[in-house]
Amino acid sequence: MLKSIALRLVSSFLVIIVIISAIFSYVGIRFIENRVVTEAQNRVAESLMAAGEIYGSELHSVQQVTRLTADRIFLKDALRSGRAGQAGAVLSAVLRQEHLDILVVTDAAGRVVWRPANPRRVGDERGADPLLKAVLTRRESAAATQLLSVGDLRRECPGLVVHEVGPDSAAMMLAAASPIVDAGRLLGGVYAAVLLNGRAELVDRIKHGVFEDAQYENRPVGAATLFLHDLRIATNVLNAEGARILGTRAEPDVYRRVVVEGRRWVAGTLAGTERYIAAYRPLQSITGQNVGMLGVGLLEAPYLDLKRRSTLLFLAIALTGTVLTVGLSYGLAQWLSVPLRDLVAASHRLAHGDLSARVPTPPVTEIAELAESFNAMADALRARDEKLRDFTRRKIMESERLAVIGQLAAGVAHELNNPLQGIVAYSHLLREKKAAGGGNGGNGSDGWVDKIVTQADRCSSIVRGLLDFARPRTPVMKPTAINALVEGCIALVEEQALFHNIEVVRRFGADVPEVVVDPSLMQQVFMNLIINAAEAMPEGGRLVVSARCDAAERMVEVEFADTGHGIAEADLERIFDPFFTTKAVGHGTGLGLAISFGIVKEHRGTISVESEPGKGTTFSVRLPLRDRAEG
Ligand SMILES: Nc1ncnc2c1ncn2[C@@H]1O[C@H](COP(=O)(O)OP(=O)(O)O)[C@@H](O)[C@H]1O
Ligand SMILES: [Mg+2]
Repeated sequence: MLKSIALRLVSSFLVIIVIISAIFSYVGIRFIENRVVTEAQNRVAESLMAAGEIYGSELHSVQQVTRLTADRIFLKDALRSGRAGQAGAVLSAVLRQEHLDILVVTDAAGRVVWRPANPRRVGDERGADPLLKAVLTRRESAAATQLLSVGDLRRECPGLVVHEVGPDSAAMMLAAASPIVDAGRLLGGVYAAVLLNGRAELVDRIKHGVFEDAQYENRPVGAATLFLHDLRIATNVLNAEGARILGTRAEPDVYRRVVVEGRRWVAGTLAGTERYIAAYRPLQSITGQNVGMLGVGLLEAPYLDLKRRSTLLFLAIALTGTVLTVGLSYGLAQWLSVPLRDLVAASHRLAHGDLSARVPTPPVTEIAELAESFNAMADALRARDEKLRDFTRRKIMESERLAVIGQLAAGVAHELNNPLQGIVAYSHLLREKKAAGGGNGGNGSDGWVDKIVTQADRCSSIVRGLLDFARPRTPVMKPTAINALVEGCIALVEEQALFHNIEVVRRFGADVPEVVVDPSLMQQVFMNLIINAAEAMPEGGRLVVSARCDAAERMVEVEFADTGHGIAEADLERIFDPFFTTKAVGHGTGLGLAISFGIVKEHRGTISVESEPGKGTTFSVRLPLRDRAEG
C-alpha cells in the first residue's frame, strides 16, 4: 500500500511516543502510588505511636491518683487505728474530682475497707484481682488495661449504665493500683479504674492530640478506636446517621494478627462510611494478656485523590507529549515532503514535454542532490531537444530545397526535351549528309560534327534520365524469369568498348523462380548497376553477376560484385542521393542509383551495397517472391 511520507513519519513517531509515554506513565504512576502508600502507612504508624503515648499517659494519670491517695497520712492512720474518721468523705471527693469510676481501698490481705462508689458494700475479698494482687505482693504501684465482668462492675459501681458495656458482657478499664506502706509495713492497697466502654473522651483526646482535628473536605482526616477483643467500645468513627459505630467488630484478620498474635498491623479498612488506612496495636493486661486493641485510621480519600491527581498529571504529560510529537513530526514530514512534491510535479511537467520545468534546491542534503540532478537532467534534455530541433529544421529545409530543385529540373528537362530532339535529329542528318557528300576531309569540320552528335546524344540521355526520375511510374507487373532478364542486360553491354578488359562471370542458380516485376524497370536497375561496375574498373577487372533464391526468406537475390576502385566510406551514405556523382563533370548524372533505389522500393525489395575502397564493390538487389494469389 502506498503512503505519503508525512503519514509514514507521523505514524511511526506516534507509535514510538505512545510506547514511550505508556511505559513512562506506567512506571511513574506505579512509583507515585508506592510513594503515596508508603507515605500513608508511615504516617498512620506514627499516629499509632502518638495515640499509644496518649493512652499510656492516661493510664499513668490513673496510677498517679492511686499513688497520691496511698500516700495520704489520714488513710494510713485510719487503717492503722481501725477508725474511719474522715476517710470515707475524702475518698468520695477523690472519686468525683478525678473522674474515676472505681475507687477501692483494701487492707493488706485484699479485703475491701472503703468503696466510695458503693459505700455500704465493704468487707468483700478483692485480693484475687490480678492487678491488686500484683501490687500487694510486689508492694509496687502498677497500671494496665483491665477487663472486668459486668457483675464485678455492678458491685463496684452500681450507678453505671449497663448498656454502655456492650454485648461482650465485659468492661474494659484503665486500671491502676498502689500499695499503702507505712514505715515498711504493708497496710493495704488503693485500686482505681476508669471505664472505657462507650466513653468518647479518651478517643476524642487521641484524635485531637494526634490529628489536631484536621479536616479533608469537611470530614475528619483521622479517627481513633478502642477495641475490647475485636469489639468497638469507643470510637469517633461515625456511621451514615452520624452516630459513633459502637458495637461493631474489627475484621477477623486484624483481630487475629493483633490480639491473637500480639503484633502491630497496618491495613486498609472500611469503617462507618469511609475507607481508612488503619494501624492497630494490642492492649495488654497486667498479666501480659492481649485484651483489646488501640486503632487509629487515616482517611484514605486524600491519598486516593493524590493518586488520582498524579495519575491524571502523568496522563496529561503523556498526552501533551504525544500531541506535541505528532505536531512536530507532521511539520517535519511536511518540510521533507514539500521538496519531494515539487520534484514529482516538475517531473510530471517534464514528462508532458515542458522542458523548462526546474525545482528549487531544498535545504536537505539528499533531496538537494536529487533536485540538482533532476535540474541537470532537465538541462541536458533541453539541450538535446534544441539540437534535435535544429537538425530536423535543417533537414527539412534541405529536403524542401531538394524537392524544389527536383521539380525545377524535371520542368527544365521537359522543356529542353523537344528542342533537344530536334538538335539530335539534325546533327545526325548533318553527319549523314556530310558522309554522303564525300566531304573534303581536310578542314576538320567532320570532327566538329561528330562532337556535336556526341554532345547532343549526351544531353538527350541526361534529359531522359531526369524525366525518368521525375515521371510518376505505373509499373506493369508480370512474372518474369530473373536469370533471363539479367542475362539479357549483360548481353546488351558486353560487346561495348567499356567492357573490353572486363571478365563477366555469371553465377545463376538453377532454382531461381519467376518473380513478379515490371521487366523493363528491373532491366533499367540491372543495367545501371552493371554499367556503374564497369565504370569503376577503367583498367579492367572482373564482374561476378549471381542470382539465387532465398527460399527461407522468400526472396530472390541478384548480386553484382566488381573488383573496381570501391566507394569511399564518406560517400557510401550519399550514393543513392539524386545528383550525387563522383564522376568527372559531363560523365555522371548522379541519377542512376537514385532511380534504381526508387524502382526497387516500388517492388517492395531492397537494394544494398558493400564496398572496400581499392578492392571492389558489391551491390545486391533483393526482390520478394509473391504468392500467386497476390500476383
Ligand atoms: N560499382 C561501383 N563502384 C564504385 N563506385 C560506384 C559504383 N556504383 C556507383 N558508384 C558510385 O556512386 C555514384 C553514383 O552512381 P550513380 O547514381 O549511378 O551516378 P553516376 O553513375 O552518374 O555517377 C557514382 O558516381 C560512384 O561514385
Ligand atoms: Mg551511374
